[in-house]
Amino acid sequence: MADLAPVFDAQLFADRRERFMAELGGAAAVIPAATLVTHHADTEWPFRQNSDFWYLTGFDEPDAVALFLPHRPEGERFVLFVNPREPAAEVWTGRRWGCEGAVERFGADLSHPRVELDALLPRYLDGAEGIAFRVGSHPLIEPLVLRSWGAQLDRASRTGSAALALLAPCPLLHRMRLRKHPAELERLREAGRISASAHELARAAVRPGMSERQIQALIEQHFLELGARGAAYGSIVAGGDNACVLHYIDNSAVLQDGDLLLIDAGCSLRDYYNGDITRTFPVNGRFSGEQRELYSLVLAAQEAAIGRVKPGHTAEDVHDTAVHVLVEGLVDLGLLRGDVDGLIEQGSYRHLYMHRTGHWLGLDVHDVGAYRLGEHHVELEPGIVLTVEPGLYVSDRLAVPDGQPAIDERWKGIGIRIEDDVAVRDLAEVSCGHEVLTAGALKAVADMER
Ligand code: GLY
Ligand code: MN
Ligand code: MN
Repeated sequence: MADLAPVFDAQLFADRRERFMAELGGAAAVIPAATLVTHHADTEWPFRQNSDFWYLTGFDEPDAVALFLPHRPEGERFVLFVNPREPAAEVWTGRRWGCEGAVERFGADLSHPRVELDALLPRYLDGAEGIAFRVGSHPLIEPLVLRSWGAQLDRASRTGSAALALLAPCPLLHRMRLRKHPAELERLREAGRISASAHELARAAVRPGMSERQIQALIEQHFLELGARGAAYGSIVAGGDNACVLHYIDNSAVLQDGDLLLIDAGCSLRDYYNGDITRTFPVNGRFSGEQRELYSLVLAAQEAAIGRVKPGHTAEDVHDTAVHVLVEGLVDLGLLRGDVDGLIEQGSYRHLYMHRTGHWLGLDVHDVGAYRLGEHHVELEPGIVLTVEPGLYVSDRLAVPDGQPAIDERWKGIGIRIEDDVAVRDLAEVSCGHEVLTAGALKAVADMER
């Protein structure tokens, strides 16, 4: 049968491994795959690979462990421990690549059954100046790594060498993952396209009396039909006041005439690249006056913030721009009172806008990579992808700060967020310095009405 899996580009992964090993210097790295997680009784959640492991291997099976050994001779530097081929097990859970596939398809120099890791790890780690391993995240592998290192230290007075330190691989690896290769950008475009078309379908279908869950079903069916793995995160389909609960995933209410509907949903592709889009529109196809005012304000904030996405600016600039537009608009509408700069400095808007304006996006929805290093905010560079997602949430959940106006009932129950996925682009290629990957999901006021 035809498979919907994307083309496997072995060279892309090989290039990443080379770069990673060059960064490691004389240290060895131990990067474990994810394991299956129990859902209930003897049933497991669908498998989700560890993104760091995936990024370096493209190997999509549980329990594997990858060793990166730049201190070893050519031909022994990338070693994969995997579950071996086993017909009796494969009858239940499907085909495995085994040790042969690990070498032939995934480019491992050497491959061993996973059960041999404990016995073989000390030999592979011998001679490394350090051991890069993420402590605290891999409870099954951590004791093996520590035991190997401990044994090295015990023998060091006679052998003359032992790794000097346990290092965190994350800073190296996550710096790499933050800047997307053109092939990764193409996958994020695909995730953006599929996610955007699901939002378009949903908006066309929504009518008063439908349930939030029906809309969730429509969106997630579309993801699957177009070959995605499924939803990248719990889809948020929130009618009326439910939209003021930021992570509302219950999706069990009936959509009311006169309410807005906020949908925050995106797909995850088979190779784990994600879309993350939010759109908000009237259930009955017409904004009320208050809804239109606040929607127009959030849209203006989002467009201004997207305008700041370009090389040399920072995620902080993007956030500050959104906050400035929102606070100015809220003062004009009488929902805030005072001097705009003072309100921002005091945080007196946070009962209406309480989250950040975006996050990095990639193999993880809230993707890896530093936003700041000490006091220095990381500058946007071509290849970085981030979401831009300002919102306003008017409800009684948070107290109005002292000195700010009480909220008139006519505004309450309005929750709005508008979220797009934006790639930073080279100014020589794209004069505005960015590309909106999710432009297929419309957002103009007129497009939200029917
Ligand atoms: N959907 C999660 C987020 O927007 O961050
Ligand atoms: Mn987001
Ligand atoms: Mn989102």
